[in-house]
Amino acid sequence: MTIQKVGVVGCGLMGGGIAQTCAQSGYETVVREVNQELLDKGLKRIYAAWDMMASKGKITQGQVNENRTRLHGTLNIADFADCDLVIEVVIENMEEKLRLFPVLDATLKPGAIIVSNTSSLNVTQMGAVTKRADKVCGLHFFNPAPVMKLVEVVRTISTSEETINTVKQFALSLGKTPVLAKDTAGFIVNFLLIPYLLSAIRLLENGMASREDIDTAMQLGCGYPMGPLTLLDYVGLDTTLWAAEAIYEEYKDPLYAPPPLLRRMVLSGMFGKKSGKGFYNYQ
Ligand code: 3HC
Repeated sequence: MTIQKVGVVGCGLMGGGIAQTCAQSGYETVVREVNQELLDKGLKRIYAAWDMMASKGKITQGQVNENRTRLHGTLNIADFADCDLVIEVVIENMEEKLRLFPVLDATLKPGAIIVSNTSSLNVTQMGAVTKRADKVCGLHFFNPAPVMKLVEVVRTISTSEETINTVKQFALSLGKTPVLAKDTAGFIVNFLLIPYLLSAIRLLENGMASREDIDTAMQLGCGYPMGPLTLLDYVGLDTTLWAAEAIYEEYKDPLYAPPPLLRRMVLSGMFGKKSGKGFYNYQ
């Protein structure tokens, strides 16, 4: 199956980055938010990224204009009716996803594929509330989506081979490198990354090193682009907590048990960069 038109449900940090990537890769892209204020905010961020790319000479003003013409914001799920593939990028909450998937299933044309950008929730369960479980899989992008080269293609026990092949081809057409993972909590990256991030919080929580030294140690000692506490602020402490909880729920392995400090920071609204405060201050 050939993908020509893509829908993206959610225009937050990840949804916006994914919609940007699809539109600038040549796809007619419809991105949906729940209200005009969030949609305007998301579209503004995408337009700013294209202007930044043009100012750096990475794309021409003509390409900026073409990208803008291909990107359509909407508040209405019915506007996904003629999409070939829809990417779900709503909040990491299973109840929300289970409410959305049957609506998408009823709206989309037969044959259209639905993928979830979930980082750790059960994609099989999302497919099971549709009548097209063979056309449902995971497609997990990394933050910042327009820059990071990896996507995880997540196969459920019901996903067809044809769907996996189409989604892999789609990922390649976005300039990404797909890796295939089974639908188990955390897939590949978060299964490995979450224990590392939580360990950094435990180091800080136990007073074993300062936040700056923890970050410097991993940046310079391992050549990582960001230290773990900066990365946590960048990814979002709330997002990390949800991912850790989902993987802990599946395996009951203490490696994934959220440290008390993480939970308390999230309860205090300290989500990292997006809220202005996390392990560092961004105000
Ligand atoms: N659109 C297009 N280009 C963009 C962009 C956007 N939205 N945002 C950044 N860029 C470009 C910049 O223009 C710049 O390009 P240039 O090098 O050609 O000038 C390049 O990306 C790098 O950006 P910056 O110069 O602003 O900053 P850095 O060089 O410090 O890199 C970073 C920033 C790419 C975020 C780098 O620090 C990094 O790789 N950090 C690690 C990120 C990471 O690990 N992400 C994965 C998190 S895990 C996850 O997402 C999974 C989830 O489920 C938890």
